[in-house]
Amino acid sequence: MDGAQASQRRLDAPASSRPVLVMSEDAQPDAALLWSAIRQAAEQAAGREPLLRARLQSLVLAHRSLPAALAAILARRMACADLDEEALCDLMGSVLAEHPDAVGRFTADLLAVQERDPACPDYLHVLLNLKGFQALQAYRIAHALWQGGRREAAFALANQASVTFAVDIHPAARIGAGVMIDHGTGVVIGETTVIEDNVSILQNVTLGGTGKEHGDRHPKIRTGVMIGAGATILGNIEIGAMSKVAAGSVVLHPVPPHCTVAGVPARVVRRHQADSCPSQEMDQTL
Ligand SMILES: CC(C)(COP(=O)(O)OP(=O)(O)OC[C@H]1O[C@@H](n2cnc3c(N)ncnc32)[C@H](O)[C@@H]1OP(=O)(O)O)[C@@H](O)C(=O)NCCC(=O)NCCS
Repeated sequence: MDGAQASQRRLDAPASSRPVLVMSEDAQPDAALLWSAIRQAAEQAAGREPLLRARLQSLVLAHRSLPAALAAILARRMACADLDEEALCDLMGSVLAEHPDAVGRFTADLLAVQERDPACPDYLHVLLNLKGFQALQAYRIAHALWQGGRREAAFALANQASVTFAVDIHPAARIGAGVMIDHGTGVVIGETTVIEDNVSILQNVTLGGTGKEHGDRHPKIRTGVMIGAGATILGNIEIGAMSKVAAGSVVLHPVPPHCTVAGVPARVVRRHQADSCPSQEMDQTL
């Protein structure tokens, strides 16, 4: 079996039989295969469910590429009385077209959610229905605008994403690829936060300042970290690679790699094997 056939077989597998990663032979996400799987799922869903036919047509099937569909979905969600859907769609579509790096991260996020969320049936569901994912993609577009010097547009998108999804991410924050924001509601990510690749964040997590520092004042979350629901991490402190922050913790001091912290204030409660990756093992942990 060649690489494309192997990838297609993974795509065709029922949701219950993971793994679900869509990879080309050189271990990169295969964008064409992913888009074709999403279109196929949309066609099937439109055939089964009359209620969703118009939505699936206008948000997925009418588009030529995955980034174009994403722009349409975000614009439909975020449009309001004074932010026109078509103008939003044009802006977001053009930003994605000019920023292949943002599209690469978006694709990695899509794969990450499907891989880690045991309740997720397929990629179409992530794209259409998961607001933590949608909020993260709105941030990625706002961040590209911010980096290009269009600060008013970046703030406007970030604000509208916060109103729409209840996820407040400053457009200057730096967020790597393969990140999952699960459920999303109540997540706040401050201006000088850094989140590396393959991190999972549950609802109501705050990555904030202490109120006593200026300048670079927000947390630095290293690769593979899992942050449980309601955790509050304050100050310019590092959460070491592959560590877990327990639900409801308040973290005020740096956390070493490969350990679990819990409580208020948080303390190290467990040290892990060096080969475990908490953000990717969520389905076993939760
Ligand atoms: C922290 C967590 C990931 C478990 O990690 P772990 O490394 O396997 O840790 P353990 O379960 O071995 O727990 C270690 C210690 O921390 C304690 N602990 C675990 N979670 C805790 C929490 N949220 N608050 C306080 N203490 C906690 C345990 O009771 C245990 O204490 P003990 O040694 O005195 O018995 C898990 O408890 C958690 O909080 N997950 C987040 C889940 C979440 O956000 N769910 C929302 C879904 S919608």
